[in-house]
Amino acid sequence: MERWVDVDEYITAQFGLHDDELEQALRASQAAGLPGIQVSAPQGKLLFLLARAIGARRILEIGTLGGYSAIWLARALPVDGRLTTLEIDPHHAEVARSNLARAGLAAVAEVVIGPALASLARLDQQRTGPFDLVFIDADKEGYPDYLEWSVRLARPGGLIIADNVVRQGQVMDADNLDSRVSAIRRFNEQLARDDRLTATIVQTVGAKGYDGLAIAVVIDAHRD
Ligand code: SAH
Ligand code: DHB
Ligand code: MG
Repeated sequence: MERWVDVDEYITAQFGLHDDELEQALRASQAAGLPGIQVSAPQGKLLFLLARAIGARRILEIGTLGGYSAIWLARALPVDGRLTTLEIDPHHAEVARSNLARAGLAAVAEVVIGPALASLARLDQQRTGPFDLVFIDADKEGYPDYLEWSVRLARPGGLIIADNVVRQGQVMDADNLDSRVSAIRRFNEQLARDDRLTATIVQTVGAKGYDGLAIAVVIDAHRD
């Protein structure tokens, strides 16, 4: 684990992954008492790269916290792009808005306060999508529902990415009593079974411990 942290620091330094805005966002989040459970810098850059690779113009994030991953995602957008990020905790949302504004992203990033399920239903009604990329990273119990909404709100060919789907390998254990673990197990099964999606899971180690990222593409009937 210590080695993983060192190597994440090496990657972060080598590729110049941290700048003042990201550092300040982390510092402000910590000062405001937010838990330090944001993605690592290399993972943030991965989100940025995936968004850039598909030329994403509309991005949806479920679970904002202090806006650290939101900064990475919003930076991948063109000037007329849009990030919508959903957060249940008004205090987290306030810190995120301030961090996004300091990073010069207030015009492209919107933080929507409320339980994600309600916000997702509203986005659907208001036809805010379709989204090119959805990043799922809120309460783990909600993942199965968030996946359904993500498939509905993403465009054909769009990307759905989910954090924390390995949990130190706990997802292997069908007898695990943790409701988060059983929900992630259900999420992973859904992801594998859903014939509207083609997907994989990549295990990750680093400053955030041992976990994994799910990556799925919404099948485009006209292409596949
Ligand atoms: N994506 C962030 C980390 C998100 S942590 C980053 O990497 O920087 C998970 C966040 O989801 C927390 O801020 C938590 O308050 C929020 N959350 C938990 N349950 C939620 C719900 N039902 N709806 C919306 N957000 C929720
Ligand atoms: C934790 C980590 C996460 O990335 C997350 O989204 C929620 C919780 C954790 O380590 O507890
Ligand atoms: Mg996470």
